[in-house]
Amino acid sequence: MTQQNELTIRRPDDWHLHLRDGDLLTAVLPFTANVFRRAIIMPNLKPPVVKVADAVAYRTRILKALAGDTGFEPLMTAYLTDATDADELSRGHAEGAFTAAKLYPAGATTNSDNGVTDIGKIYGVLERMEEIGMPLLVHGEVTDPDVDIFDREQVFIDNVLIPTLQRFDRLKVVFEHITTAEGVAFVEGSGANIGATITPHHLVINRNALFVGGMRPHMFCLPVAKRERHRLALRAAATSDDTSFFLGTDSAPHLVSEKESDCGCAGIFNAPSALEVYAQVFDEEGALDRLEAFASLNGPAFYGMPPNEGKVTLKRGERPADDRLTVGSEEILPFDTGKSVLWRVVY
Ligand code: DOR
Ligand code: ZN
Repeated sequence: MTQQNELTIRRPDDWHLHLRDGDLLTAVLPFTANVFRRAIIMPNLKPPVVKVADAVAYRTRILKALAGDTGFEPLMTAYLTDATDADELSRGHAEGAFTAAKLYPAGATTNSDNGVTDIGKIYGVLERMEEIGMPLLVHGEVTDPDVDIFDREQVFIDNVLIPTLQRFDRLKVVFEHITTAEGVAFVEGSGANIGATITPHHLVINRNALFVGGMRPHMFCLPVAKRERHRLALRAAATSDDTSFFLGTDSAPHLVSEKESDCGCAGIFNAPSALEVYAQVFDEEGALDRLEAFASLNGPAFYGMPPNEGKVTLKRGERPADDRLTVGSEEILPFDTGKSVLWRVVY
């Protein structure tokens, strides 16, 4: 078989992205806007994006930070709290200010302190979301400190997700950044109202990457990378023909000073190489012909949006690791897979 050296796909979207705010937003946004047409923007700012007005103002700041006309479209989300008002949420959805709402179990991850303390507190909100067809985006980990950190996704499926979906069986749910074989199996066994995003880093690293020769804070994210068998299950799911799985980078920049600290922040900044790393994975799995579905078709179909008209071309050719970015007097470090990436986006 001749080797494929070039691939053109419809312009992709990123269905899970942290852009932050201020100087950090300005520094990281071009990496996404140059490649992706749309992105679901995570609302875990400080303070979080809770009200319709918060989302409208944040969207305006993102558009202002865009350099040049890339056509990039931020799709905003609401941060659910115990006090979220169903009327405010549905008004935001109707006005197009909120594409979806994000469930952070309180304390599960970065800036989740205002998250939901008990899923029962938002049943009224979930009922409304089910009624209006508004997707619920889930950080699927329990926060009980007695549950082993590597089991928190599976326990969430059993204790929270399954009972919630028994109650709200038409609710549209995106199980974000799945990291386990159990997560894959759950999504595969669910109806068309359940989708899942898979990050580039969870396709490339397993939990050993956190401890190669010492502690590696830049490989730390939440949900934390799991054993090799889980990584293999994620790779099989992403490259399968199951349309439930789609691209969501969870690119989550933090200052180097906050990563390399006594209590380092969770998050991997992968935006500079995200599409290329996915292409590498699909190439390794002999599935380059399925990259377009994962990156550009399955997500829009789940969200009920048309796929993009534009195209992106990738070429085979070694991709050097990205340099550190300077943000004011600080730095951020892009994800380095530790191995060669053999695909490059052609601009
Ligand atoms: O690693 C992560 N970083 N996981 C999350 O859920 C949040 C994110 C962030 O905002 O930094
Ligand atoms: Zn995230």
